[in-house]
Amino acid sequence: MNLLIFAGSTRQHSLNRRLAHAALSLAWDARIAITHIELSDFDLPLYSGDLEAQGLPSDVLRLKQLALDHPAWLICTPEYNGSYPPLLKNTLDWLSRPVPVDPAWTDGLRPFRGKVVGVLSASPGALGGLRAHAHLASLLLTLKCWVAPNAYALPHADQAFDAQGQLLQESARHGVLAVIREVTDAAARLNRPKSP
Ligand code: FNR
Repeated sequence: MNLLIFAGSTRQHSLNRRLAHAALSLAWDARIAITHIELSDFDLPLYSGDLEAQGLPSDVLRLKQLALDHPAWLICTPEYNGSYPPLLKNTLDWLSRPVPVDPAWTDGLRPFRGKVVGVLSASPGALGGLRAHAHLASLLLTLKCWVAPNAYALPHADQAFDAQGQLLQESARHGVLAVIREVTDAAARLNRPKSP
């Protein structure tokens, strides 16, 4: 079961990028295969229908394929004014666009259907970005994903990591790992071959 993980921030000292790295390390220790990507490695302009009319940017196609190839995802979202940031909306909006000239991609929701998605967040605040979860879950459900009921919000995230980027608190490590396990277990069950 291969898990795709990314953060909804490209900021150099992003707490959510740090959380994604810490989750990567926890998954590695638990022998869970995980693919980590940085959204800064994808050239995704702000969505515009006029740009789309010229053809989907090549990095959108690259990201659509990556999303399709992974049955489970983990998204580390910042909280902006009680919701998820525009970077995530822009990314997911581009991913939802069909490729009319390619019969394999005429269904815009193909990268999303049947995906199990876990939500993590990190914030310097006391709620850890918790208020972004329901908004992101609503978007993911609209896109036909299965959203894991278990999520984890890391509060006071500016004090939550050691110098190596590991989570200091056992409760935080436990919370992140619980989401990773739930997502991978659910995706494995959904993708189990049907018995004849
Ligand atoms: C924030 N921040 C924030 N934090 C929070 O806990 N609740 C909130 O509603 C908001 N709102 C908000 C709006 C905007 C426009 C910005 C730029 C920031 C603070 C935010 O959690 C903090 O900057 C994080 O460090 C952002 O995530 P990354 O980039 O560190 O991953």
